[in-house]
Amino acid sequence: MKDIGVCDSKPDIYLPELATVLKVEPMTKWETFIEFKLDSEKPLGHRPGQFVEVSILGIGEAPISVSSSPSRGNSFEMVVRNVGNVSRAMHQLKALDRVGIRGPYGKAFPVEEIKGKDVLFVCGGIGLVPVRSAIQYVLDNRDEYGRIMILIGTKSSVDRLFSEEIDEWRKVKNMTLLETVDHRDDNWAGIEGVITTLLPLVKVNPNNTVAIICGPPIMYKFVVVHLQKMEILDKDIYMSLERRMKCGVGKCGHCQINQIYVCQEGPVFRFSDISDVEEAIE
Ligand SMILES: Cc1cc2nc3c(=O)[nH]c(=O)nc-3n(C[C@H](O)[C@H](O)[C@H](O)COP(=O)(O)OP(=O)(O)OC[C@H]3O[C@@H](n4cnc5c(N)ncnc54)[C@H](O)[C@@H]3O)c2cc1C
Ligand code: FES
Repeated sequence: MKDIGVCDSKPDIYLPELATVLKVEPMTKWETFIEFKLDSEKPLGHRPGQFVEVSILGIGEAPISVSSSPSRGNSFEMVVRNVGNVSRAMHQLKALDRVGIRGPYGKAFPVEEIKGKDVLFVCGGIGLVPVRSAIQYVLDNRDEYGRIMILIGTKSSVDRLFSEEIDEWRKVKNMTLLETVDHRDDNWAGIEGVITTLLPLVKVNPNNTVAIICGPPIMYKFVVVHLQKMEILDKDIYMSLERRMKCGVGKCGHCQINQIYVCQEGPVFRFSDISDVEEAIE
C-alpha cells in the first residue's frame, strides 16, 4: 500500500533551474551577448546546436540557442536579438541577475560523428550564433577534423557579430575563413554580396566534406543549390531550422511542420531527411 502524501510523480519537465548572469555586453543595435552559469555550479550539459528555454520572472519564456561550446567550461553564452517581451527583458539583464533555464533541448550538430571530415560552415546573420558553438568545439579539437572552411555573411559591417573572435579564428592552421557583407560601407573593405558569393571561392572534396548551415530561411534554398552543385551529398548537409516554439519538449505542437516536431527532431536536421517536406525550407 502506498503511503498517503508520498509523491511518486515524475520531475516537472517545465520546472526551470536557476542561473545567474555573469556578463552582459551589447554587440550591435539589436543583439546583446549574455554569459550565464547555473546556480547548481553544474555544467549545462549541452551539445553544439542545442537550445534552452530562458524564463524571465513575470515576463515569460523564449527558446534561445547556446552559442558557446561545452568545451569552454561551465558557463554558457547566448546572443539575444531584441524583438519582443522576453528578449527585451533579457537585454535589460545585469551581472548577478537571475533567470530560469530549461533544457538543453533538441538535436545537435553532429560534431562527434563528423570527426575526420572536412567541415564547411555557412553562417548568415544571427545564424552564426548557434553555429559558433560547433565552430568552437571543432577548433578546441582541431586535430580531429580535416580542413575547416567558415563562410560568414552579414547585412552590413555594423551587424557583424564576434568580429574579434573571428579575427582569432583566421589564425588557425589549415583553415579558410571568408566574410562578406550585403552592402559595403566605409568600415568594410572586404567582399560585398550575399553569402552565396563566397561559395564559389572555396574548393571542397565532396567525398569528405560535411556542410553545416544556419541563417535566415531565405538563405537555405540558395545555399543548398550551391552545395549540391559542389557535389556535396544531401546526407552531408546539416541545417538548423528555427520555428516558433513554446514548450520545447514536444507537447504543444507550436513548432510542427507536417509530422515533424522541430523542437525534438530538430532544430538540426540532415537535409536528406527534410528535402521532401513541404514548408521545411520555404
Ligand atoms: C531553436 C530556437 C533557437 C533560437 N535561438 C535564438 C537565439 O540564439 N537568439 C535570439 O535572439 N533568438 C533566438 N530564437 C528566436 C526567439 O526564440 C524568438 O525571437 C522569440 O519569439 C523571442 O521571444 P520574445 O518574447 O522576445 O518575442 P515575441 O513576443 O515572441 O515576439 C517575437 C517576434 O515574433 C512575432 N510573433 C510573436 N508571436 C508570433 C506568432 N504566433 N506568429 C508570428 N509572429 C509572431 C512578434 O510580433 C515579434 O516580431 C530562437 C528560436 C528557436 C526556436
Ligand atoms: S515547441 Fe511545443 S511541441 Fe515543439
